[in-house]
Amino acid sequence: MSRIVYVDGRYRPTTEAVVSVDDRAFTFGDGVYEVCEVAAGALIEETRHLDRLGRSLEALRIAWPIGREALRIVMREVVRRNRVRHGLVYLQISRGAARRDHGFPANAVRPTLVVAARSLDPAANAARAATGVAVITTPETRWARPDIKTLQLLPNVLAKQAAREAGAYEAWFVDRQGFVTEGASTNAWIVTAEGALVTRRADESILHGVTRAALIQVAAALGLRLIERPFAVLEAKTASEAFFSSATTIAMPVVSLDGAVIGDGRPGPVTLALRGAFREHAERS
Ligand code: PDD
Repeated sequence: MSRIVYVDGRYRPTTEAVVSVDDRAFTFGDGVYEVCEVAAGALIEETRHLDRLGRSLEALRIAWPIGREALRIVMREVVRRNRVRHGLVYLQISRGAARRDHGFPANAVRPTLVVAARSLDPAANAARAATGVAVITTPETRWARPDIKTLQLLPNVLAKQAAREAGAYEAWFVDRQGFVTEGASTNAWIVTAEGALVTRRADESILHGVTRAALIQVAAALGLRLIERPFAVLEAKTASEAFFSSATTIAMPVVSLDGAVIGDGRPGPVTLALRGAFREHAERS
């Protein structure tokens, strides 16, 4: 992670940064987070990330710890101090530190803000995208509001670990009706035989991915047809292409699902076109 991290008003070496053991992120997962990509030193889709952060905070009735503009400055300063050119900024806001009691603290406490940044190797991502990755499915076990980007990620952690143990890169959650909701840390997409993009509607059942929203704009610019509807596991296995999206993976080709080969087993042209056009359309700041 970061060598320098911002915690409650101070930039500190990670080894010296301190958060209370009474922090509600620690005891209840009572907080929210964002992950924003850094590419060539610029923050990618920062506006959408901060807009979603605001929606998550509002849903949990947590106040902004500092103003939005101040937060933008802190994010840049953390990126600078960690010398990140390609990588990510991670920010986390919890309800704050208070004696453990499930209800909100009776006396107003200050939300805890942590901002970190780290470098990622763009070549590793590009190599994965060149071959495509395997995905497994797993039953949807999360709460009913995955649209709120909370710190409570245990089902996602277990799903990702199951994928890893199966030699796959991601796990797609499947709801009781047999439809894919989204990945453990990504949104799920397929491409039909007719070349249309299909992805689930951004309702309460999935995180409203920033990359998902940006890719919808890219698709429109490329003249691709988009259908927002659920798709079943079998439809995904027999689709001509599949991929997933997130801030750190952009559009990542999926070449097998639960061992079934998708398309010809190689990254598909529609996925690669979206991936290739993402940079020129995404907001940089
Ligand atoms: N994950 N769905 C889930 C459950 C996610 O956790 C994420 C992001 C996404 C994609 O959202 P976006 O395009 O805004 O990154 C979808 C981040 C990267 C993470 O938890 O590390």
